[in-house]
Amino acid sequence: MDKFIIHGGKRLNGTVTIGGSKNAALALMPATLLASGKYQFDNVPELRDITTMGKLLEMMGADVEKNGHTLTLNTFRVNKFEAPYDQVKKMRASIYVLGPLIARYGYAKVSLPGGCAWGPRPVNLHIEGIKKLGAKIEIDRGYIIARAKRLRAAKIAFDVSSVGATGNILMAAVLAKGTTVIENAAIEPEITALSEFLIKMGAHIDGIGTRHIEIEGVDALHPVNERMIPDRIEAGTFLAAAALTAGTVKLENCNPCHLTTVISKFKEAGASIQVGEGWIKIKSSKTIKPVDVTTAVYPGFPTDMQAQWISLMTIAKGSSVITDSIYYDRFKHVPELIRLGANIELNKNVAVIKGVKKLRGAKVMSTDLRASASLVLAGLAAEGKTEVLRVYHLDRGYEHLEKKLHLLGAKIRRISGKEY
Ligand code: EPZ
Repeated sequence: MDKFIIHGGKRLNGTVTIGGSKNAALALMPATLLASGKYQFDNVPELRDITTMGKLLEMMGADVEKNGHTLTLNTFRVNKFEAPYDQVKKMRASIYVLGPLIARYGYAKVSLPGGCAWGPRPVNLHIEGIKKLGAKIEIDRGYIIARAKRLRAAKIAFDVSSVGATGNILMAAVLAKGTTVIENAAIEPEITALSEFLIKMGAHIDGIGTRHIEIEGVDALHPVNERMIPDRIEAGTFLAAAALTAGTVKLENCNPCHLTTVISKFKEAGASIQVGEGWIKIKSSKTIKPVDVTTAVYPGFPTDMQAQWISLMTIAKGSSVITDSIYYDRFKHVPELIRLGANIELNKNVAVIKGVKKLRGAKVMSTDLRASASLVLAGLAAEGKTEVLRVYHLDRGYEHLEKKLHLLGAKIRRISGKEY
């Protein structure tokens, strides 16, 4: 298992190119099950999760080829409609095949995803939504088995604005008979990207980017090509890296409109930020002001930036309160940050952070994707050497993170598992 060795205290300066959105790609890849044929996706990041989704689609008979940031899929020979436990347990987003399979083939056998590193991740909204669209669903020995001659439109109101459930129901409804209405839909940019992709494929969708979406089902869709939107969480992570090291960094190939709340929080914390067409420039101040954050659905402060924000607040001048209202137990990074000298009190889903003068390097353990990012960030600011173990978690969602940070002046290198 690879690890990172970081010698902290280096100010980050320069320009970094942000990659394509992991979570957009993880929604658009299964959407290719909705129409047989050849698709080309550009600006697709090289990530473990993308490979995992590709392997799942190959198990169904699709041809998947990755060449740098270009991904080509051919779903002509899809002939298996199952997502087995061994594949699904690697990545929760595998559940995204449920909607397209049942819509296009009338059958799906998808393993329940189980939990993740930080706790239970229910899929009740996905299952109830597909049921409302007329599928017969049984849960048998850890699998969701869904059958339907043809899905028929329904009115589906989510009690939680779930990104995944919105995506799954969108992909199921585009081929259902009649007009489906989704109330309280998620409006994350990745869902907007999925809706726009489905429309390019021939779907009829109204209300994109709003919580009220109407989908008039069609009989068939057709393959198209698409370019992935930028990854807003990778961008936010680099803003935090600059702010933690009092650096000046320009992010290119990103979309500032997807980060309005995050950018305003960095400004509140003392950074000066300019934005333009496809770029964000952050000039950080030496003193980090304490800023409270409560995570929320888009366009609120994303839960996927909660761990990175806690890292920043560990060296703020004063106390701050970080509340995660989306995931109550997404705090596996806190005990590891305390090992680096942070002063954090955790009470359920509320972390109270008292800023310290300095973090001090230590060995810390990654537990999940964004927790690992927060440990790398803290290591960049900590005095001395930090070892971040099990960075395979990071490789799920950050492409060559250590190389990009090194190019900005960080003293960081990867030690492959075989070397130690
Ligand atoms: C997506 O996960 C993202 N993953 C997550 O990013 C992100 O943290 C999350 O949205 C929230 O923004 C992908 O897009 C692949 P949800 P998803 O359904 O769809 C509850 C990362 O780091 N819920 O919007 O699984 C759920 O428990 C990953 O890139 C139900 O109760 O998230 C949570 O409290 C981690 N029942 C809330 O909704 C359901 O059926 C939001 O979850 C579904 C969800």
